[in-house]
Amino acid sequence: MTESPLPRLEGKRLILGVGGGIAAYKACDLASKLAKEKAQVTAVLTKGARRFVTPFAFEALTGRLCLTRQFKRLEPGRTAYPHIDPALEADLVILAPATANLIARLAAGLAVDLLSTLLLTVRCPVLVCPAMNVQMWEHPATQRNIRTLVGFGHRVLGPAKGDLACGMTGAGRLVEPAEIVETVCRAFAETSPRAVPGFKARERGTRGGRAKKHRGKPKGKGED
Ligand SMILES: Cc1cc2nc3c(=O)[nH]c(=O)nc-3n(C[C@H](O)[C@H](O)[C@H](O)COP(=O)(O)O)c2cc1C
Repeated sequence: MTESPLPRLEGKRLILGVGGGIAAYKACDLASKLAKEKAQVTAVLTKGARRFVTPFAFEALTGRLCLTRQFKRLEPGRTAYPHIDPALEADLVILAPATANLIARLAAGLAVDLLSTLLLTVRCPVLVCPAMNVQMWEHPATQRNIRTLVGFGHRVLGPAKGDLACGMTGAGRLVEPAEIVETVCRAFAETSPRAVPGFKARERGTRGGRAKKHRGKPKGKGED
């Protein structure tokens, strides 16, 4: 009988930011693989992502609430500050797929939806996994934005080259979920991902008093 390997991400709090690209379906596989490594995965879906995949899929795969909207009424077990509380607790943010639009919002410092606002709040390392059409990827604006993210200290993984869903060939494929998981596990195998080249974090803030209630199993009304 072969022994099952030990989970490598036990106790790690990950935010999985999912953008509205065709590769969003692969983010479900990524969420599943991260959960199997016993990471606490909070998925945050953009409006665009919800055209491709549903919050229910991520809740079923991670056993945790999927966050989708910034403004909502307070419910038991929920937070009124979904752009702050998860951000303060996170050990790592993974953006997969990171769309051209999401990359641009982050590079510009825009806080126009839950995910982009949360990205300004986090102080933990950020792993950006772009996926898009090759011409979108090669556009000078996207390349400039990527350089800006690298300048922030974020790590960029991919995109991979190959056949794209749109029928073109070139750089633009989301790096395979298994490779993303290996990258994350390797980073955490060090003392902290902050110690790994390419993963830089800023000074983390604290926030006393308020309830931090976004964690835990879905309580029925998962989707906003
Ligand atoms: C079928 C389809 C596939 C798309 N795939 C991608 C993609 O892979 N990458 C990308 O950057 N944009 C893609 N887009 C465009 C994004 O959905 C669009 O830019 C959207 O505003 C992204 O929003 P978000 O970044 O907030 O999720 C696609 C659009 C459609 C209709």
